[in-house]
Amino acid sequence: SSAGSRSGAGLTFKAIPPNTLDTVIVPNGYDEKVLIRWGDPILPGAPAFDIDRQSPTAQAGQFGYNNDFLVIVPLDRHFTRGLLVVNHEYTNEELMFRGYAGGATATTQQMRIALAAHGMSVVEVERVERTGEWRVVSQGRRRYNRRLTASTPMKFTGPAAGSQLLRTTADPRGVRVLGSLNNCSGGLTPWGTILSGEENFNQYFVGADGAPADAKPALARYGIDITKRYPSGSRYWDKADSRFDVTKNPHEPNRFGWIMEVDPYDPQSTPRKHTALGRFKHEGAAVVVAKSGYVVAYMGDDERFDYIYKFVSDRKLRTGDSKADRESNSRLLESGSLYVAKLGFTSASEIDGSGKLPSDGAFNGTGTWIPLTRGGKSLVPGMAIDEVLVHTRLAADKVGATKMDRPEDIEVSKLTGKVYVALTNNSNRGAAGQAAADEANPRKSNKHGQVFELVEIGGNHASETFTWSLPIVCGDPADPSTYFAGYDKTEVSPISCPDNLDFDAHGNLWISTDGNALVDHAGTNFHDGLFAVAVEGPDRGKAKQFLSVPRGAEQASAYVVPDNKSVVVSVQHPGEITGASVDNPASTWPDGDFARPAVIVTWRPDGSEIGS
Ligand code: FEO
Ligand code: CA
Ligand code: CA
Ligand code: CA
Repeated sequence: SSAGSRSGAGLTFKAIPPNTLDTVIVPNGYDEKVLIRWGDPILPGAPAFDIDRQSPTAQAGQFGYNNDFLVIVPLDRHFTRGLLVVNHEYTNEELMFRGYAGGATATTQQMRIALAAHGMSVVEVERVERTGEWRVVSQGRRRYNRRLTASTPMKFTGPAAGSQLLRTTADPRGVRVLGSLNNCSGGLTPWGTILSGEENFNQYFVGADGAPADAKPALARYGIDITKRYPSGSRYWDKADSRFDVTKNPHEPNRFGWIMEVDPYDPQSTPRKHTALGRFKHEGAAVVVAKSGYVVAYMGDDERFDYIYKFVSDRKLRTGDSKADRESNSRLLESGSLYVAKLGFTSASEIDGSGKLPSDGAFNGTGTWIPLTRGGKSLVPGMAIDEVLVHTRLAADKVGATKMDRPEDIEVSKLTGKVYVALTNNSNRGAAGQAAADEANPRKSNKHGQVFELVEIGGNHASETFTWSLPIVCGDPADPSTYFAGYDKTEVSPISCPDNLDFDAHGNLWISTDGNALVDHAGTNFHDGLFAVAVEGPDRGKAKQFLSVPRGAEQASAYVVPDNKSVVVSVQHPGEITGASVDNPASTWPDGDFARPAVIVTWRPDGSEIGS
């Protein structure tokens, strides 16, 4: 390769234009194909997908719905085979079942199929010849394939495991939970396991109007409707499984909203939910090893006006590969300190909500990591350790953390150690009774979001202080409230609602978007997409659109394979348009009939690197 390890290197592709085409668009010189789609059988005995003959058992052996986070971990030294690990965040029942009318009319069979369509898939994949193309390994040769669903047994670890707040009638010890829900983004640990964030778990619970009065404030803070038995849009899952009825099981919601760890190399392993990392609407977790050897996880809480967190382990990573080393590393996320970010600002008096760049030429400032827990003890007055970890939002509220514009995915540059956070948007910023714009969240009614860059003091990920800046304030570059690190705005792609982040081999940031708020001349929203942008060097801020997804879809996640020859992309909820259904589809991607969420791979058939 002629490209050096300098950010900006390699991004020579011709950007695609914003568009509204019901297909996947990639740049000239690239190929793309569906790698796996909703309903494809992945476990032995699972039937081929048939939308008219779907069953909970079939779905539990098939690829789940609404794929989001994805990664490929290697199965051999040359990375010719791997395990594709994919989150299944949520279900669109109206796009899964013919004639679905929703709410109380849903059948328990449909509910059990939806429960089985959540969770995670592990799928063996292999490289085609020596190219960047990948394919699913054929049935007889698979050994690692696995499905996790909303019913898979899992265990709690850490200081809140066994807490009274996690105990239910079905689990009187508070240590064992069934399933994982709303698995959004995630991360790969240095010891080869997968982390997965449980995000909008609130939507699955009903009956919180009947919860004990003392439980209601926390339920409400986590977005669970405490005013009525069946909030609008409810799935009525209590009819399929009473644990979703908060009147009967007031602690069951406390058992979701965690970071789950899965060992993809051991299909028999029990997934763990790590209470030491706190409970909120976890987008994902980005794990790095600090110079000192401690393991650090950066995490976002995706809600308007919620916070950025980090976890620092009590013990150091062991670099050996003995059984004792592996056993020790597998427990790194079970004890440590949990911090929340509080920001300082350099130009506070100049921020008026318009997004105008301050006179010092930067949205920037300092920051402090405020510890909520340390050494297994609470540092929050009036809250015990398990209360801090189960009701982390309440703890962070108390210490004056900085309210952000929906912290989504976080990723750390291997090249520089800088930490990047996607702040996706915040329609309520500056509204009556809500937090005003500040230097890190500089626009009121923020429709397009921004990218936040955090630099730990001394490059030490375990540091308690940092500096920060905004390299990109998103939107149409013609809009004066946008900022692209000072790069010539006539040369950048419009970008809106950054959600997921990844880096390529040269340190370029790859940004997936969710909810593109930019429109064409007819007022139709441009589709979401994948963008590549240099964050170092002379091209810093030069955002280029690489890919766009079909109608109604979110460009949920992208993973650049480490050899820089492929990008694997999660196309989530194609056809998710109000009023659309299986029989009245808004999108017919990928197969020309009805919409199916799918993972695609894109690569250059000439063998050159991604981005070239
Ligand atoms: Fe599931 Fe915050 O995106
Ligand atoms: Ca400033
Ligand atoms: Ca996301
Ligand atoms: Ca999102």
